[in-house]
Amino acid sequence: MQESSTKKIYDIHSVFYDATFGRLVKRRIERAIKHMNISDTDLVLDLGIGTGVSLNFYPQRGKIIGVDLSAGMLRECRKKIRERGLDHAEVFQANALQLPFADDTFDHVFISHVITVVSDPYMLVREAQRVCKPGARIVIVNHFQSTNRFIGMVEKWLCPLCTKLGWRSDLALQDLIRRTGVEIDYRYKLESIDLWETVVITNTKSALPTLETERHTIAA
Ligand SMILES: C[S@@+](CC[C@H](N)C(=O)[O-])C[C@H]1O[C@@H](n2cnc3c(N)ncnc32)[C@H](O)[C@@H]1O
Repeated sequence: MQESSTKKIYDIHSVFYDATFGRLVKRRIERAIKHMNISDTDLVLDLGIGTGVSLNFYPQRGKIIGVDLSAGMLRECRKKIRERGLDHAEVFQANALQLPFADDTFDHVFISHVITVVSDPYMLVREAQRVCKPGARIVIVNHFQSTNRFIGMVEKWLCPLCTKLGWRSDLALQDLIRRTGVEIDYRYKLESIDLWETVVITNTKSALPTLETERHTIAA
């Protein structure tokens, strides 16, 4: 996935997202947000907020900042904010791989159905870790490649088709852990047979030295 094509694909998705995929993901998003334990003064970052399905489930306190690449998705999101008077939420267009926020800004980062949409999932996690305070919570909801060899192979095989639709199907959670250094607190699925998983991480900033090492290597 490249950000330039992602923008166009999700501008199209924005027209029917809430009536299709948005309905399918609601319950999972609601449950995941409960695991964030957001308190009154917390600052929450929702990366790739899309049409703002998550806005139904955040507590009406604290502050929610949402970013997304797609103007179409953001238009739908802003409509919800306006119509429902969600004054605690603010969204704007930005690339989640180059966030315009200072280090250690947020108390929680939510990454819902985005990690397999961005061109560099490892960079997304690193950016989340950078802008998130130490000890804060990062919650990722996504489909990951199956550890079953046969299903994993089918998912890899289907990946070129999925990419045309707006996501990749071959990201393995183990790779994400290995390449970012994140330590997972726990993970769960809503049903025993569920394509999607919720992964809860406490930000130890362990991924950041990896990024520094890579930067150093590139510069050398
Ligand atoms: C499948 S939608 C998920 C929307 C929402 N988080 C949800 O769970 O309903 C993926 C969203 O990620 C956004 N996105 C993809 N790449 C991005 C990037 N690099 N920066 C910011 N947003 C991005 C897309 O525009 C799209 O709105």
